[in-house]
Amino acid sequence: CGIVGYIGYREAYPIVIKGLKRLEYRGYDSAGVMLYDGENLKLCKTKGKVSDLEAKAVKEITTSGSIGIGHTRWATHGVPNDVNSHPHLSNSGNLAIIHNGIIENYAPLKEELIKRGYVFHSDTDSEVLVNLIEDIQIKEKLKLGKAIQVALNQVVGAYAIAVFDRNNPEEIVAARLGSPLAIGVGEGEYFIASDASPFIEYTSNAIYLEDGEIANIRLHKPMKIRKIKDDTLVDPYIQELQMNLEQIEKGGYDHFMLKEIYEQPNVIKDTYRGRLHSNEGIIQMAGVEDHLEKFLHADRIIIVACGTSWHAGLVAEYVFEEFTRIPVEVEYASEFRYRNPIISSKDVVIAISQSGETADTMAAIKLAKEHGAFVFGVCNVVGSSISRESHAGAYTHAGPEIGVASTKAFTTQITVLTMIALRLAKAKGTLSNSDFHMYLQELEIIPEKVKEALETAVTTKKIATTFKDAHNCLYLGRGYNFPVALEGALKLKEISYIHAEGYPAAEMKHGPIALIDEQMPVIVIAPKQGHYDKIVSNIQEIKSRSGRIIAVVTKGDTQVRELADYVIEVPETSDALSPLITTIPLQLLSYYIAVFRGCNVDQPRNLAKSVTVE
Ligand code: G6P
Repeated sequence: CGIVGYIGYREAYPIVIKGLKRLEYRGYDSAGVMLYDGENLKLCKTKGKVSDLEAKAVKEITTSGSIGIGHTRWATHGVPNDVNSHPHLSNSGNLAIIHNGIIENYAPLKEELIKRGYVFHSDTDSEVLVNLIEDIQIKEKLKLGKAIQVALNQVVGAYAIAVFDRNNPEEIVAARLGSPLAIGVGEGEYFIASDASPFIEYTSNAIYLEDGEIANIRLHKPMKIRKIKDDTLVDPYIQELQMNLEQIEKGGYDHFMLKEIYEQPNVIKDTYRGRLHSNEGIIQMAGVEDHLEKFLHADRIIIVACGTSWHAGLVAEYVFEEFTRIPVEVEYASEFRYRNPIISSKDVVIAISQSGETADTMAAIKLAKEHGAFVFGVCNVVGSSISRESHAGAYTHAGPEIGVASTKAFTTQITVLTMIALRLAKAKGTLSNSDFHMYLQELEIIPEKVKEALETAVTTKKIATTFKDAHNCLYLGRGYNFPVALEGALKLKEISYIHAEGYPAAEMKHGPIALIDEQMPVIVIAPKQGHYDKIVSNIQEIKSRSGRIIAVVTKGDTQVRELADYVIEVPETSDALSPLITTIPLQLLSYYIAVFRGCNVDQPRNLAKSVTVE
């Protein structure tokens, strides 16, 4: 979910609405806003997107007022409908809350409140929290901030909340545990949001609340931040924001996803800029240099991540083991955290996360730290929770990724991880000098090759018209391109709702081959480098069962061309770097298929870009 709040001298409504639109990547199944104009508390909520909320709000409420809070939801408790949307009011109607996260013990709390006469209108855990706060406020005669503190100490779960009290309307109280919360500090005004994007045009000063902190954000008075647990005062640390408005706008593209696909040559360059100097044979990243010994003496590298980032982790496993000979394990963060894994102080845990906020990944690194492992974060969002929780890390510098389906984050993650592997290989002497230099030079020209790979847009668009009505799709790859197959299938699933599966090409004969008939599109990633002959045999197997073959091949390929129904040609690179190239046409293919099916590319149903609940 995404939350936004404003308290100051401007009209709050347009700020909150625009802010919610920027946060829709965090969830978009329902939305709501509360405004206070000095007299009236006005509430409007609806199932659907922020644009639906806007349409409803102009009809139902007057949108004046210089205090406002808003919410865009990704449902956890209760289906997306008007009533379950936030903000939620307390029974008296005096308190309004917006909440991102989950209150795990909401059931017993709710039961207790019902016994005390409280009535609930929604199925949400958030409505329980706001009534719990009210109950404490009344029972213990506490001011809002203190009542919230007491309530939060009874709550188990994760949250970023903002609460407004009509009886004390000069203030909004915000708190966080496990879900992100930024406060924009202007002159005579404050902004509250899940990330800084809603307020970058108003102020570049931001405070990121830490876990377990609560902030009293008051008009005409300095802000106070305290620890929820023991009430100690915290000195607010104001950070200067680096984001700019242009970075979060579409820049002439139809969708953010397409814009982000096309940004890849530049952002990959940004990722290695200042870190890679192929002429001098240098590759260095501060986070790695400072902790080189940790890496070099690691018994094992454990990579934890979710979704697309997990696929980048799989590519990294192959790269690390080949280049550095350090054993690598790649785990879904959600599995790792709950399966009592073996972790020792000689393990290096690499957490990969675009947002740096994914709850499962965050929990996995906390567990790793408890066991004494060294945690290295590979994040895109600067200052994000995972980047702060890690001992060290390297940013991917991809810039804000808004499209829910991850594209440029994936390729920049692979770039960073490959650079780390190369740096370690150099220190360990596990790559020959000539290979090391070859990879450096190859990496440096990858952006040009990615640019060339983007030219496959013409072919992929044509192929997309043919396959847009498919019900299933199989993606096959071997070696470095097996994770690319998984990622290709995930992209298609996410944005076009076509069922797709990625498989190691040789595994096909152990099951998926049963699915192949003349209806089944099979996308085979078959670049010249790697296990070419083997994959040609796999293509033969598909061909003899009448599957429809779309092959991603190296420019000039003739052998696969003879067998495949469609070929997509990409420039040649070394095997280990090929995912950076072969991924591109697969991103484009799913993009065009989704567009032709009329799907909402940037905001596919049921998904969220940043999943801050487990
Ligand atoms: C969500 C997004 C995916 C993303 C995954 C992990 O499911 O929809 O695109 O890969 O979270 O996110 P992270 O920010 O940790 O990379």
